[in-house]
Amino acid sequence: MINKRNICAEFLLIVLAIALLLPSDLMSQGSVKKNDLDERVRTFLKKREGTWRDLNVPASDGKILYDVIIKNKYKKALEIGTSTGHSTIYIAWALSKTGGKVITIEIDKERYRQALTNFKEAGLSDYIDARLADAHRLVKELPGSFDFVFCDADKEWYKNYFIDVYPKLEKGGCYTAHNVSTGGWGMGAGIREFFDYIKSLPYMKTTVDESGGGISISYKRE
Ligand SMILES: C[S@@+](CC[C@H](N)C(=O)[O-])C[C@H]1O[C@@H](n2cnc3c(N)ncnc32)[C@H](O)[C@@H]1O
Repeated sequence: MINKRNICAEFLLIVLAIALLLPSDLMSQGSVKKNDLDERVRTFLKKREGTWRDLNVPASDGKILYDVIIKNKYKKALEIGTSTGHSTIYIAWALSKTGGKVITIEIDKERYRQALTNFKEAGLSDYIDARLADAHRLVKELPGSFDFVFCDADKEWYKNYFIDVYPKLEKGGCYTAHNVSTGGWGMGAGIREFFDYIKSLPYMKTTVDESGGGISISYKRE
């Protein structure tokens, strides 16, 4: 015989079952369960291999950024120059493991929009705070602090970006910049000015990885 008590108990059981199922359901849409994330990012990167056409870094440079973040357990990242997000994907992937997040800045609306789509497809949106803005202004305004920075926007502004970020870069933190090459194809005037400046600072220890597009890697001394 069905009484009010039985109906009530059944109703509670259903509510409980929905509550238990709902989070995993939601996770499979917006963000991703941690165990599935590596697979999802790898699948995304594989699918998009050879299709990055918006001044994006090569995959090998993305891997360098990934390794620096993992090795130093960085959590508070800033990227200047998102484009459609190839480097951001590697940065955010590393941060998904360290428990961090990246603020990334892009001035071009179309690229910004495409980047958001890419972040979602890769399952990394939760680790990325993407801003559509002029980095000349926003980098100054952001309070920080940061323990990892990747600079890959307008080259003639590289030195200014560094000067604006420096007070917000934690000791032991790392400032990286793209298209820095000491040999071979050399570097443009803006990058040269930035590189000579950062190399001259006794409180920054700088090396360059030239295996891909050239990345300067500068650690702020403790
Ligand atoms: C070399 S691309 C970045 C590539 C990106 N890191 C990647 O690997 O996918 C440089 C980007 O910086 C953006 N940019 C240039 N000047 C900027 C500014 N003042 N503020 C924000 N973004 C800027 C450009 O629109 C361009 O998309």
